[in-house]
Parts: sequence; C-alpha cells; structure tokens
Amino acid sequence: MAHRWTNDLTEADVTPHGVWLNRRQIMAGLAGGIAGAGLAALAGPAAAAGDDLEPNSWKEITSYNNFYEFGTGKSDPSERAGSLTTSPWSVRIDGLVERPGDYALGDILSKMTIERRIYRLRCVEAWSMVVPWDGFELADLLGMAGVKAGAKYVAFETLLRPEEMPGQRYPVLEWPYVEGLRLDEAMHPLTIMATGLYGKPLPNQNGAPLRLVVPWKYGFKSIKSVVRITLTSDQPPTSWNKANPREYGFYSNVNPNVDHPRWSQATERRVGGGLFSRRQPTLMFNGYEREVASLYEGMDLAKYY
Ligand code: MTE
Repeated sequence: MAHRWTNDLTEADVTPHGVWLNRRQIMAGLAGGIAGAGLAALAGPAAAAGDDLEPNSWKEITSYNNFYEFGTGKSDPSERAGSLTTSPWSVRIDGLVERPGDYALGDILSKMTIERRIYRLRCVEAWSMVVPWDGFELADLLGMAGVKAGAKYVAFETLLRPEEMPGQRYPVLEWPYVEGLRLDEAMHPLTIMATGLYGKPLPNQNGAPLRLVVPWKYGFKSIKSVVRITLTSDQPPTSWNKANPREYGFYSNVNPNVDHPRWSQATERRVGGGLFSRRQPTLMFNGYEREVASLYEGMDLAKYY
C-alpha cells in the first residue's frame, strides 16, 4: 500500500536512533533564530504551530504511563508490568470476518511490514508526548482476516489476567478494557498496531506485545495488550464511555474547541518539557486534520465527542 501520510514522518522513516539523538543535541544547543527555523521546517506542517515532532526520550515514554491494569499512578505500569507474560501471545479475530480464528502473534508479524511512525500522543488529561512507534497498519491485519460486508465497527479487547495485572483486582474500570473504532477509522493509514518503540520491542508498560495507536484521538482510545479484535455491525461499548458517558464519548477525537466537562482541552503540557516550559496549543485532530477531517464531514463534533 502506498503511504500518503508520510510528510509528518519524513525523518521518522529514514532516521536511525543515533541521528535522532544527534538532532536532539543540536536542538538543545540552539538559541533559535535562522538555524532553528530551518530545522523546524524539516519536520513538516505541524512545525508551523510550534511543534517540531522531537521525540520524547525512551525514559519519558516508558516511565510516565497510563495502564490501569497495573494501577492508576503514572509510575505503576513501569514498576509493576515487568512480569506480564507476553509470549506466547495470540489475537482472536472474529465477528464479521472471512477467516475468523486465533492468530499467533508470530504468524501475524511474519506477514506484516513494520515501519517507524513518529506520532504525537495527546492524553485526555491534557499532557502529551511524541513517540517513535514501530508497527504495522491495522488495515493490513484486517485485510488478512478479510472484512465481511456489513461490518461497520471494530471492537478491541485487552488481556484479562488479574494474576499478572494487579489493577484488575479492583473495580476502577470494568475489565477487560475495551475500545472501538468505526471501520473507516480503523482502515485509515494513520491507524497502526504498534509492536515497538525506538526500534526495540514494546515495553510491557506501553502495551506489549501489541497495542493500537490512533494518533488523532485521545490516548485512551489506543488500547494496550490487545488479545481480541471483533468486526461488528453495531457500535461497540468502550471502557471510558461505560465508566462516564458524559465525559468520554465514543469518538474522542482530539479537539481544542470541545472542553472536557472538568477542564479545558485548548492547551497541553508536553511531558519532559521542563518545569518552566509553556503549555502549547492543542491542535485540531492532534495535528492530523488534513489527513482525517474528511472522516467526520457533516458531523457535529461537539455532539459526537
Ligand atoms: N489500554 C489499557 N488496556 N489500559 C489503560 O489503562 N490507558 C490509555 C491508553 N491505553 C490504557 C490503555 C490511556 S488513558 C493513555 S493516555 C495511553 O494508553 C497511554 O499510553 P502510554 O502509556 O504508552 O503513553
């Protein structure tokens, strides 16, 4: 499949880890001015909004997490998820598909093309990061299973294993964690299943061995440690919507103009930005408006939040 969405990713696709580090050092040493403007231009259209897609560090991405199966604190996942058994792993793909079944992760990976995607991640709690994911397009996986006519949505489910996921012993959410997308959202080339970070296997706290990443939606849509994908004709239930339907809708597209009932979504704090860094404006569809706005044409985004 041709990748038309690479302009945010130019560097991502071609830049090995060492060169990122190099660029980080360059950026850190810059006082701004002409050289700064030149480098920012390399990072594509979002740079105009003051966001240069500089990836967060490995440490930031792997130690500041939300993964309620391991507790509600930001450091709980990195402290507790280490012992999760992620091999063997299989994904049940069922519902309205031609070839339902339990697919071993190794078999899936042998058929998928892994690429690097540097994406913004915007949590509904108003913090954000930039993450260099490795993964494959969800569309390719759904193509492997064969989507049947009549399928309109895709439902996802996280592993249920309270013996290894201590947070599942408490009714913080209804377990297992579930999420869902409209089929066209799931088939969009920006939507990936991530298997790694910075060229290394995905750490357990980030949703090993396989997690969804939908970069234009609030982070909670990007469900971790996926064991089941079901094609359905009806809109599936989602964990946060079940927990609080007024605060968390099915769509949950990043939108600076629609506030959370308890806080503004107009700005965000970049994790690792430093104590004195300014909040930055949140971008419509998290900066992916050009690529995804057409999916929602004619929809009232305040109503379908
Ligand atoms: N998936 C599961 N199964 N459980 C969770 O608690 N948290 C979500 C999402 N996926 C969550 C989950 C939230 S709120 C966010 S912001 C992202 O994961 C965080 O991803 P990260 O920890 O890799 O940055």
